[in-house]
Amino acid sequence: MRYALISDIHANLPALDSVLEDIATRGDTDAVYHLGDLVGYAPWPNEVIRRLSRDGVAGVAGNYDSTVATDYKHCGCRYEDPRQEELSHISYAWTRENVSADTKRFLGALPFRIDLRPVGGHVAGPSVILVHGNQLLNTVYVTEDRSDDFLAKMASALGARGGDVVAFGHTHKPWHRTIGGIHFVNTGSVGRPKDGDWRAGYVVLEIGDGGDPVIEFRRVEYDVDGAARAIEASTLPSEFAAYLRSGGQSTAWAV
Ligand SMILES: [Fe+2]
Repeated sequence: MRYALISDIHANLPALDSVLEDIATRGDTDAVYHLGDLVGYAPWPNEVIRRLSRDGVAGVAGNYDSTVATDYKHCGCRYEDPRQEELSHISYAWTRENVSADTKRFLGALPFRIDLRPVGGHVAGPSVILVHGNQLLNTVYVTEDRSDDFLAKMASALGARGGDVVAFGHTHKPWHRTIGGIHFVNTGSVGRPKDGDWRAGYVVLEIGDGGDPVIEFRRVEYDVDGAARAIEASTLPSEFAAYLRSGGQSTAWAV
């Protein structure tokens, strides 16, 4: 099986459209799953949900999805300075005001985790476990600098064994590491990368009977300028436009 894993779309419809078009054009995957954070920071939350619904893309709830769906007091996002905190609250309030009842229902219905069995559940074989953050909360950042011990505990709590893949998003920075034969894959972000590369990111995972899983990180160009201009024309803070253009490196709000 070859899975396309897409995460952290964050209401960026042009980025999502380009990624889904890339997946369709290449035609080398069997199924597409998302890893949550469908809304927030960009002006197309309802359009993103409609596109995923139309294409039948299943996936798990990110912190942005579950907090919007449950009217939580904040989005469960991390911020590094007071202006970033303020922007985070503005984005969350904007998103809550602009999601339709259908979108909110869709977000509330997302499962916390999904287990895939690429060779079928009727025989022993590897599992692919999808979560947004970690096994306990979708707000936990599983960053590349986490210790082997941290990741091993995460895998054990998820019930993962050697040969399995644990995939997650949330940090918006893609990476892959193997510990005890278990593959940890951070899928990066479609609509709001933070690794300095503005292009939309997704992962293709090939896994089946025997052999090591093959993990490929892909980047797709999209109309980032159009997306940035739409943010600037909306009532969202224009800092989010600079953030997209710079692949998350802009610190316009810090000066
Ligand atoms: Fe996110």
